[in-house]
Amino acid sequence: MASEIESQLQILAQLAQKAIAEADSLQKLEELRIGYLGKKGQLSLILKEMGKLSAEDRPRIGAVANEIKTEIQNNLTNQQQQLQQGEINRKILAETIDVTMPGVGYPIGKSHPLQSTIDKVIDIFVGLGYTIAEGPQIESDYYNFTALNTPEDHPARDMQDTFYFEDGSLLRTHTSSVQIRYMENNEPPLRIIAPGRVYRRDTVDATHSAVFHQIEILAIDKGLTFSDLKGTIKEFLRQIFGDDLPTLFRASYFPFTEPSAEVDVQWQGKWLEVLGCGMVDPNVLKAVGYDPEVYSGFAAGLGVERFAMILHKIDDIRRLYNSDLRFLQQF
Ligand code: DAH
Repeated sequence: MASEIESQLQILAQLAQKAIAEADSLQKLEELRIGYLGKKGQLSLILKEMGKLSAEDRPRIGAVANEIKTEIQNNLTNQQQQLQQGEINRKILAETIDVTMPGVGYPIGKSHPLQSTIDKVIDIFVGLGYTIAEGPQIESDYYNFTALNTPEDHPARDMQDTFYFEDGSLLRTHTSSVQIRYMENNEPPLRIIAPGRVYRRDTVDATHSAVFHQIEILAIDKGLTFSDLKGTIKEFLRQIFGDDLPTLFRASYFPFTEPSAEVDVQWQGKWLEVLGCGMVDPNVLKAVGYDPEVYSGFAAGLGVERFAMILHKIDDIRRLYNSDLRFLQQF
């Protein structure tokens, strides 16, 4: 009887060792543990027979049973650790980052050359103490022309071909209209810069567009003179072109300034016309309720496209509106 139980225990131990070594998941291992060592497990079944043993055999077989129990427990623990370690290794392998792989590129957006030109001009004038002003693109005749000393029958209206709506309102032909709107609502002294979109019935070609951008500059105070205008414009041109280039103030005509000038700058060997300017006409000051005997001021207007084309050597204005990434990525 004793030897029979002992050999059963040995066989159990062998089978258990093999089965445990072959278990390939923690769940299977747990099933084996219950099957061998659980309350109704195989070891318990064999031990139930112990009662039939003689008093001298019992302790010996008991010791063997204990040994085998410990052995199975150790096997289970070892296999469990191996399976867990294998699982960890698999995870580590799966999550390894190969730092030699090429990275994923995220395209970075940048400012359109028109916007970056506007930003540059704004930065310069903000540095000179100017604040930004805005006005509507759909304007009335009054703000676009009349208040700017350009009455109905004034020949200067032909200088700008205007888009009109049926109700008589229009698409502003210049940002000069913002001058009037701002002065109506503010008292001098003032210094403003007004960037914005403007519209003209121009035939589109390499240098013309029906929609384009201007930046208006206006300063009103007591005692402002043409020297202030000249100094301001020259400082602006020096900052934007990054050099103290020769400039030329040519006498010109605008209805809303007197005297008026157009400014040329010598850039890369050529004289380029870059902006119009002048001393604000007393009639414009009167239109907004300022006393021209007390206040004077200067104004200027420049084309953003023109500056962008000069600064970036762009040969055709239409490139600025085509949204062709091959072109835009250069800036
Ligand atoms: N408004 C003018 C144009 O569109 C540009 C201009 C000229 C603006 C002289 C001014 C100025 O403020 O003083 O052609």
